[in-house]
Amino acid sequence: MPTAAPLRIVQITDLHLKSTPGSRLWGVDVDASLSTVLARIQARHPQPDFLLVTGDLVGDEPEAYGRVREFLEPLGVPVYCLPGNHDFPARMAQTLRHGLVRWQRSLIAGGWQIVLLDSSVPGTPEGHLAYGELALLDTALVMHPELPALVCLHHNPVPTATPWLDTMTVSNGEALFAVLDRYPQVRAVVWGHIHAEFSARRGAVQLLATPATCMQFKPNTPEPQLDDLPPGYRWFELYPDGQLATGVERIEPTSRPLGLTRRVPA
Ligand SMILES: [Fe+2]
Repeated sequence: MPTAAPLRIVQITDLHLKSTPGSRLWGVDVDASLSTVLARIQARHPQPDFLLVTGDLVGDEPEAYGRVREFLEPLGVPVYCLPGNHDFPARMAQTLRHGLVRWQRSLIAGGWQIVLLDSSVPGTPEGHLAYGELALLDTALVMHPELPALVCLHHNPVPTATPWLDTMTVSNGEALFAVLDRYPQVRAVVWGHIHAEFSARRGAVQLLATPATCMQFKPNTPEPQLDDLPPGYRWFELYPDGQLATGVERIEPTSRPLGLTRRVPA
């Protein structure tokens, strides 16, 4: 078992905040749902080194970035964000340039390197990694072969057995893995977008998706369908020797904001 103190990270994803408090997304109060998830994090993981937010901070309303900050700054730890398909990268870069809650491209902490990629394509829900993103990843990894690495993005880079979501898989996932395959220090790739938990392996690399802080999608369905599972988050313990422990935790079913409908329009 590893003995050195790990880097402790909590990942949240797909907040879908609106500019108006109390807004609902397919029946779920996104503010109340996020508040409940954050309260759970504070109870279970009171002092993480930082949070990661893997996209869809807002739900198609650029004015809501101020509210993202209002929700997350009180945690009192850095919150590193990347954009998803419901975000506005230009606005996000402007609004979250400074402060505890910010869009950061990479960082080194606890003997690890964390790389945050932008897989969004403005104007479409699809995922793609532009040449500049792949170059950023390649440069970060070649600079620090001695540091185990965690790579973060919004869209799923592999199919997740949910046909309607898999139409939005990173369209050039093979280009991503062509980079990752050159760097044995990569330990895991983590994303959001699918509003569900997922885990798989590709060689030594863990492939991980994390539940949204709002509504959940049921896996293995041909069209969008809401899941009964409550919202949640993922914790990580990253050890200096490269070992990684992780798990998903969800809020209590009884504290889940109600109002879910079983089916949603595509
Ligand atoms: Fe989302």
